[in-house]
Amino acid sequence: MDINNIKPLIDPSRPKVYIETYGCQMNVNDSEVILSILQKEGYVLTEDMDQANIILANTCSIRENAEQRIWGRIDQFRLQKKKRQDVIIGIVGCMAERLKDKLLDGHQVDIVAGPDSYRSLPQLIRDVTPDSPQINVLLSHEETYADISPVRMDKNGISAFISIMRGCNNVCSYCVVPYTRGAERSRDPKTILREAQELYSNGYKEITLLGQNVDSYLWKAEEGEEASVNFAQLLEMVAKISPELRVRFSTSHPKDISDEVIYTMAAYPNICKHIHLPVQSGSSSMLEKMRRKYDREWYLERVAKIRSVIPDCGITTDVIAGFCGETLEDHADTLSLMEEVVFDSAFMFAYSERPGTLASRKYPDDIPYEEKTRRLNEIIALQGRMSLKSNERDLGKEFEVLVEGPSKKNPDELCGRASNNKMCVFPSHGEKPGDYTHVKVESVTSATLICSNLG
Ligand code: SAH
Ligand code: SF4
Ligand code: F3S
Repeated sequence: MDINNIKPLIDPSRPKVYIETYGCQMNVNDSEVILSILQKEGYVLTEDMDQANIILANTCSIRENAEQRIWGRIDQFRLQKKKRQDVIIGIVGCMAERLKDKLLDGHQVDIVAGPDSYRSLPQLIRDVTPDSPQINVLLSHEETYADISPVRMDKNGISAFISIMRGCNNVCSYCVVPYTRGAERSRDPKTILREAQELYSNGYKEITLLGQNVDSYLWKAEEGEEASVNFAQLLEMVAKISPELRVRFSTSHPKDISDEVIYTMAAYPNICKHIHLPVQSGSSSMLEKMRRKYDREWYLERVAKIRSVIPDCGITTDVIAGFCGETLEDHADTLSLMEEVVFDSAFMFAYSERPGTLASRKYPDDIPYEEKTRRLNEIIALQGRMSLKSNERDLGKEFEVLVEGPSKKNPDELCGRASNNKMCVFPSHGEKPGDYTHVKVESVTSATLICSNLG
């Protein structure tokens, strides 16, 4: 037997880890948690895959094409292994959780780790040998990584994510997340406040509180502790850290967004006036089949409530085209809802059947691919017009923006977001990233507010 075969693959003197992140903002934050766990064990981050001892992909399963992209990347990673046999390939995150040991078939990869098992990554890495890949896909009812300070991988040092909860209990019929992320659990508010405070002390100006459904955040008081904390209360606690610290949050579920949250937003200027409120469909019968637990009227009432309390609140959404059994009338309901609400922007998707979900078991995926695409394109075209309309309503308005850096299109100009989350481009008066400035909207496109800089 070749002695090399029983030696662990990792060279402990210079372990370098390369991480690619797919999927939602929760995954971006999880990669920062993973890096924190690995750094404590002496690993360093590299941005060069050729230099890496460990290649990790933090993956997404939300739609089939998300997974297909990752299979393509796995092929690329395996090419590295052809060049350097001792490189370790790990698939972590939602696809790891969904496919489990199927990812180990044919020894495609060395490590498979689900979203609740990141604390075990150093051990999994130590235990890997060429003949024994390692897997941990246990889901937890408690894990929130509350004690771990994520190592921020973004470069700007201005804006950061804080996960306030994990998992999802909603079981929308099309969605794989409850299976890949497990049951919902909220994180201890003390640890959230500590992390937000630390970020602010380190110069961060904007934090986004993250969860699959932030409105159902609930920290239940244990014996001897102060009272329970709900999402509105948490939002207020974070907003009170400093008026200079902007607070955002995502995602809100329409069935749960409460008046208390809306009034709390209105009460604090530093809570950004933007709600991402995924509607999915404008047809009540589709919403019922999707198990969203609200109908068209409920959704429109929530939008009306938000706008009555916060008239200039940005509202964005997610839409799914061509869900099981969707008629042309259902589709028309989605279009008419979009016209009625005039969302600022939207993420729009063709329905993708996910194995194991309720919809995959109960309802045939019966809208042909071409028809789904046609409906999706109609939705995208309409949203383009609505985004423009929404931006035109801001012509002449003045906003405070947080400067992010040079504009991508014109490096002589700066860009930054207004409280309502719209991207503004404006001439530089020497501001640095992280400064606040006031701008006036002079003209618009469907994607950007083009502004003068009032200083
Ligand atoms: N927790 C969030 C959504 C997270 S997933 C919420 O409930 O609002 C992000 C978006 O992906 C969803 O809002 C939905 O529009 C889309 N999505 C989820 N599953 C999908 C599927 N099977 N096919 C197409 N789009 C899907
Ligand atoms: Fe998926 Fe629904 Fe949970 Fe959002 S609320 S993550 S769409 S199951
Ligand atoms: Fe994807 Fe998992 Fe997020 S499936 S969207 S990475 S929770």
